[in-house]
Amino acid sequence: MAKKTVKFVCQNCGYESPKWMGKCPQCNQWNQMVEEIKAPKRKGFFLHTEPGSETKAAPITSIESKEEKRTKVDFWELNRVLGGGIVAGSLVLIGGDPGIGKSTLLLQVSAQLAKRAYNVLYISGEESAKQTKLRADRLKIDTDHLYVLPETDLSMITQAIDELNPGFVIIDSIQTIYHPEITSAPGSVSQVRESTAQLMRIAKTKGIAIFIVGHVTKEGSIAGPRVLEHMVDTVLYFEGERHNAYRILRAVKNRFGSTNEIAILEMKESGLEEVQNPSEIFLEERTKGASGSTVVASIEGTRPVLVEIQALLAPTFFNMPRRMASGIDHNRVTLIMAVLEKRAGLLIQNQDAYLKVAGGLKVDEPAVDLAIAVSVASSFRDQPTKADDCIIGEVGLTGEVRRVSRIEQRVQEAAKLGFKRAIIPKNNLGGWAPPEGIEVIGVSSIQEALQVALGG
Ligand code: TYD
Ligand code: MG
Repeated sequence: MAKKTVKFVCQNCGYESPKWMGKCPQCNQWNQMVEEIKAPKRKGFFLHTEPGSETKAAPITSIESKEEKRTKVDFWELNRVLGGGIVAGSLVLIGGDPGIGKSTLLLQVSAQLAKRAYNVLYISGEESAKQTKLRADRLKIDTDHLYVLPETDLSMITQAIDELNPGFVIIDSIQTIYHPEITSAPGSVSQVRESTAQLMRIAKTKGIAIFIVGHVTKEGSIAGPRVLEHMVDTVLYFEGERHNAYRILRAVKNRFGSTNEIAILEMKESGLEEVQNPSEIFLEERTKGASGSTVVASIEGTRPVLVEIQALLAPTFFNMPRRMASGIDHNRVTLIMAVLEKRAGLLIQNQDAYLKVAGGLKVDEPAVDLAIAVSVASSFRDQPTKADDCIIGEVGLTGEVRRVSRIEQRVQEAAKLGFKRAIIPKNNLGGWAPPEGIEVIGVSSIQEALQVALGG
């Protein structure tokens, strides 16, 4: 138990003393010193209050809540992922594989902020000022409000922040930064954590929004962005395949907005550009009428996105058939295949199955179940699906098709992209009117869905 410490406080003038005294040395009054218990000094730093301020329990109705001050950037996709712009005093972590485009994105965002006359400090721990300048030239950046500092020592960085007093700071990357009071090497867990804690303090006390770049390390989690996720306000992951130009920025944690929101950007010769209509991109290369291919309207954050689910089944040559899934949860695929086997009579246990979400997107909501099921059945029977069908629904273990959320938005997106039929859960019918040009068919079981989509 912590030692209880007492102090003596003059009730007349507030003078404090560790010892009792008959006469207060400050106001010379007699018999005014009264023993009080010293409030324990806060060891850690409570992140959401000013240092030194007292925190007391208060009725929730008396707590003031005001909208955070947000700054918008030119990338509307990024504003949406952040929940409506960059919140002042927030700490945002951007994780991703090396070379995916984190520095490019942040340099572009810095320039957009600087153009609005905010001072932006770009700390480059990996590249020299010259290299950063070369990149900026490629991105056609020329603004005076963007400051570049090639530095890795956190005390120097803190000093630079104090001097410049910027509105936004970029730390690229946290793995190169070191806290001089910590002996372990830069990039180690304690360095990364302590440095982030200090940056958090700066962000909160000065109201500066700080972006931290974190490389995803080969080992997966050691000293990568994972160890920081709980500390920061917002975690964004920048994903994509390096040989593909499309990049997905996904919010996995956001204290100031919804998670699972995605932004889609395209890496071009002169930097990243936003993609206005992601559904078109994901369906661009689809071979219409191929067997094993279905389209589902998945909700990513607050917005529906149409994605193609592909399945390929082939007889296995092994004792254990192979099940591979990319972009979808492997367990979900196994479960749906078991339901198909048992409830729809598909003999697929001796089939290797490969499933893929085309375009590199990851979908993990139950509403994609039915599309997975139809894809698998279509490939197994080698029956093509209809090119204008969009299939939406969750599948239960008894083969029932269950209701999904936000059906109206999903069907609207499908209609917008020219789909002629939406196969949806029967329980989702009613209470809303489908848009023109799309026929909505309600199904209550997986058999019924196969009947409608594949005709038997
Ligand atoms: P980078 O931002 O350096 O990645 P990270 O900081 O995540 O490690 O991305 C570098 C890649 O992006 C590199 O392969 C070159 C490419 N690139 C472009 O295609 N266009 C551009 O305008 C820029 C600046 C980079
Ligand atoms: Mg970089």
